[in-house]
Amino acid sequence: MELIRSHERYRAMTLNMIPSENVQSPNVLKALATDLAGRYSYRPRYYAGTRHIDELWEYAEDLARKLFGAEYVFLEPLSGHIAALLTYVSLVKGRKMAALAPEFGGYMGNAPDKLPDLISADIVYLPAVKEILIPDPEKSVELIRAEKPDLVVLGGSYMLFPHPVKELSEAVHEYGGLLAYDGSHVLGLIAGGVFQDPLREGADVLFASTHKTFPGPQGGLILTNNEEVYRKIAGNIFHKIADNIHFNKIGALAVSLEEMMRCGKRYAAKIVENAYELAKSLDELGVPVKARDHGFTKSHQTILDVPNREERIRLRDRLEECGIISDADLRLGVPEVTRRGMGRREMAKIAKLVKRALDGEDPRRIRRDVAALVRRFRTVKFC
Ligand SMILES: Cc1ncc(COP(=O)(O)O)c(C=O)c1O
Repeated sequence: MELIRSHERYRAMTLNMIPSENVQSPNVLKALATDLAGRYSYRPRYYAGTRHIDELWEYAEDLARKLFGAEYVFLEPLSGHIAALLTYVSLVKGRKMAALAPEFGGYMGNAPDKLPDLISADIVYLPAVKEILIPDPEKSVELIRAEKPDLVVLGGSYMLFPHPVKELSEAVHEYGGLLAYDGSHVLGLIAGGVFQDPLREGADVLFASTHKTFPGPQGGLILTNNEEVYRKIAGNIFHKIADNIHFNKIGALAVSLEEMMRCGKRYAAKIVENAYELAKSLDELGVPVKARDHGFTKSHQTILDVPNREERIRLRDRLEECGIISDADLRLGVPEVTRRGMGRREMAKIAKLVKRALDGEDPRRIRRDVAALVRRFRTVKFC
C-alpha cells in the first residue's frame, strides 16, 4: 500500500497532461473496488451466483448502445489494444489491412511488426496530410481502390482533427471491404457529439479504449450496426481473446456511461474548447505547436512541434521536473484538467508554466506554482 500511496501523493502535486489518461469519478473508483473484482460470469451461463452480475452486464451494454447509437456492443475487451486485436482478427480475412502510419499519427499497434504481424496480415499505409496528421482523402481513396484491403482502419493516437470516414468508407465498400474506426483517443468526444460520428459517417465498426477522453475504467469496447460484423466478432470472444472479463470494470463502465449520458455533452465541449485555448496560448508565447496554420486542434490535445526525438525526451523530463506530466512525443492533453474543472483562464496559466519550464527556469519555483494550481482543482466534475 505504501507505494500506491506514494504514487497518489506524487500525482496529486502534478499537472497531468497525458492525453490518453483521465481521472475517474468517485463512483467509478468505488465500483472498481467492489466484490465484482473477484467474480466470473460467462455467456452461456456457467456459474451460479451471477444473477446481479448478468443484469449489470446487460444494463451496461444497453447504456452503451443508447449513448453511441449502435445496435450491437461488446464490452468484453480488456483494453483498447485488445479491442483492436479482436476487430482485426475477426475482419482481416484476406490478410491485408490499411491504416495511418504511426509516424503520421496512427497507432503504434499498427506497425508492421505489431498487430499485423500477430494476425499474419500485410499492412499498407494511407498517404497522410503530414502537417495535420490525417489521411489524405483523395490519395487514400486511390490507394484503397488499388490495394483493396479487407479492413481500413481510421483513427489514431495523435488525433488533432476528424478523419475522412465518409470518403474512405465509400471507396472501401465499393469492393466489399470494411472500415473500422479506432476511437480510443476520442471516444469521449464522440459520445459528447463534438468531434465526429464514425458510425453515422460510414464506419462499419468503432472500437476504443474506455479511459482516455471517455472517463471510464481502463478497458475497451466495440460497437457496430452491422450484423455480419457482429457475428464475426462474437465468435472470437470467450476463450479466444478473453476468459474473465473483469466485472468490476463492467460495473464501473456502467457508472461512467450513466455519467456521460448526463454530463457528456458539456464535458466534451469544454475539452475541445480547452485544447484549442491551450494551443493558442502556447503559440502566443512562442512555443512551437503542430498544425498552427490549420487552427491547432479540434480534439482533446495539442502537440508541441519538436522534431528531434532526443530533444523531446529531454523536454518531457524537464517538464516532469517542473511538475508537468506529458510523454515522449510532447502531446499535451486536457481531459484530466478539464474533468477537474479547469477552463480557459487555467489553460493560459498552464501555457505559461510550460513556457517557463521550456525556458529553463528553476524547476522548484515552477513546481511550487503547479502545486498551487492543482490544489484548487481536486474535485472531479461532470459526474
Ligand atoms: C489509437 C489507439 N488505439 C489503441 C490504443 C490501445 O489502448 P489501450 O491502452 O486501452 O490498450 C491506444 C493507446 O494509447 C491508442 O492510442
